[in-house]
Amino acid sequence: MRISVIGCGYLGAVHAACMAKLGHEVVGIDVDEKKISDLAAATAPFFEPGLDDLLREVQSTGRLSFSCDAAAAAGSRVHFICVGTPQRHGENAADLTFVDAAVEALLPHLSPGDVVVGKSTVPVGTASRLNRRIRDVQPEATLVWNPEFLREGHAVADTLHPDRLVYGNEDGLEDNPAVSVLDEVYASPISSGTPRLVTDHPTSELVKTAANSFLATKISFINAMAELCEAAGADVTQLADAIGLDDRIGRKFLNAGIGFGGGCLPKDIRAFMARAGELGADQALTFLREVDAINMRRRSKVVELTRELCDGSLLGKRITVLGAAFKPESDDVRDSPALSIAAQLQLQGAVVTVTDPKALRNAQRRFPELHYQQDAEVAMSGAEALLLLTEWKQYRDLDPYELSGSVATPKILDGRNILNPEKWRAAGWSYRGLGRP
Ligand code: UGA
Repeated sequence: MRISVIGCGYLGAVHAACMAKLGHEVVGIDVDEKKISDLAAATAPFFEPGLDDLLREVQSTGRLSFSCDAAAAAGSRVHFICVGTPQRHGENAADLTFVDAAVEALLPHLSPGDVVVGKSTVPVGTASRLNRRIRDVQPEATLVWNPEFLREGHAVADTLHPDRLVYGNEDGLEDNPAVSVLDEVYASPISSGTPRLVTDHPTSELVKTAANSFLATKISFINAMAELCEAAGADVTQLADAIGLDDRIGRKFLNAGIGFGGGCLPKDIRAFMARAGELGADQALTFLREVDAINMRRRSKVVELTRELCDGSLLGKRITVLGAAFKPESDDVRDSPALSIAAQLQLQGAVVTVTDPKALRNAQRRFPELHYQQDAEVAMSGAEALLLLTEWKQYRDLDPYELSGSVATPKILDGRNILNPEKWRAAGWSYRGLGRP
């Protein structure tokens, strides 16, 4: 099938490459010329494990091309909208400028029978509005909302083997002609057993925001428990292991630490609250305000714990922050709790060095005032305290015995609770976890 993918960021670039991998003929379209020239040269414009190899593999088949011109979408049967929906400046609501612009740019190139497929995360009600706009211009085209659930760092596998497919169409019916078109697009994952649900437009939009809100709530729940454990002298990692054994609760997404960040969970829960307010249902989501507040409190808590670790004063203390990305296996620093903590420490007088295997270029752009060092060994040498804030494998594997010779004072704050406290203490380190005695 001929497919166009509009928007080639984290979501669209991976989606375009994966659709070509599934055997389709794909054109990726974006207004950013640099992104398109990188992708055309089989180089991902961001770090995502496996994506460069996949781009090379599918481009050699001739099934994947890129263009800056929306007219390149003409002739495709299915058009995926994969542009970003960031938080509006100074507001909680989502900014739909890019979604609206993508649809407007596509309209002149739609033919009868075309299916426009929204994948971006949007406020409920957007799909029906866009469907009306599409029908005004091309009455025989239609819009399906097909939310994306991929995680950065696992994006290729999540797209090729999703845990579910949701198709939201205008009547919510299984026999809507767009359903069989999408079944053809996703024939491979469907044949290997991926569940597929057909809903109406608003339900499909809500599935995505509800899923991210649930995940955010789970993380803030365990971080609230960490606050209690801190007050009571208990251990939140043991608590999570014990409650997680109840399979109604589950152990996943119960890792307490510095909280969630990234380009999705924080802005999605805020946009959800804003939309609920517009719909007169704000009370239903008041709890998300608390989820957000618990999450943001983790960052100040780490600053306070670091001050304690540094004998009550941050002034002039040489602190090395391990990790800048919002999570490992990603170079994304959007709303990264690690960088936000590094910046607060620096503002309070500490001399902060940040290291990260992949994210320093992006970090530098966002916080140019911080000092960066690519080489982790150099970054840690002479440090008066280490803060492990993104759980990259190389930081998990640090050897406390080896490291104690190169730092000025052996003190570590484990912001992700991934190190073994006994081992670090036995090696002479002063160890602090979050929500651990
Ligand atoms: C999230 C969702 O997990 C995806 O399903 C969704 O498709 C995506 O948003 C999106 O809306 O596009 P992502 O932002 O890539 O994916 O990252 P997550 O793996 O969800 O992690 C989010 C944050 O939560 C990270 O900062 C991570 O460190 C933190 N986290 C995660 C915790 O603090 N504790 C945990 O137990 C798990």
